[in-house]
Amino acid sequence: MAEREKIEGAEELIDPIAQRVGFDETESRIAILGHPIHAMAVAFPVALTFCTLGGDLLYWWTGDAFWARAALWAAGTSFLFGMLAGISGTAELLLVPGIRSRASAWTHFIIAVTLLSLLGANWGHRLDGYEAAVLPYGLLLSGLSAVVVAATGWHGGKLVFDYRLGTSKGS
Ligand code: HEM
Repeated sequence: MAEREKIEGAEELIDPIAQRVGFDETESRIAILGHPIHAMAVAFPVALTFCTLGGDLLYWWTGDAFWARAALWAAGTSFLFGMLAGISGTAELLLVPGIRSRASAWTHFIIAVTLLSLLGANWGHRLDGYEAAVLPYGLLLSGLSAVVVAATGWHGGKLVFDYRLGTSKGS
């Protein structure tokens, strides 16, 4: 009997966050013909971050200045495309009520902003001399950025595929 009362009591618990107006509204608003811009933009910073690391490693291995210059361009474009992804993601976070009321969306924002700071630092560090910048700090920044971009992308994937944020409800 006591056990039964406990279970009944538990059923009455209410999550105050889930009571917020628009909690179930999670469909993307920053989209072109229903395709979220953030999901389209993120592929570029993810790929270019790994290209920067690849360029640094190949420069270290071969000593060929071509790879240091390739890493400079990859670092710059990863930062600029990362900012584009960040702007579309932030707009989504602030404008969609069901996204902004979930803690996991804010966790993703914090990891992503950390990543953007690293990408900006990695590019800025190379602007005064792209060959001298590679060893050791360019390579270290690229390695750290690769770890953080993996965490950002993995966590973004969780938002979409586990929590279904940004997805259409279908018809
Ligand atoms: C800086 C602010 C950012 C915010 C506020 C943000 C927010 C979000 C949100 C709300 C989603 C869920 C899908 C949607 O509503 O579009 C998402 C998905 C995702 N985010 Fe971000 N994001 C940010 C930056 C980034 C960056 C810089 C990257 C990677 C370089 C990234 C990688 C991802 C990935 C891979 C997904 C899953 C996309 C999919 O497969 O559909 N995000 N993000």
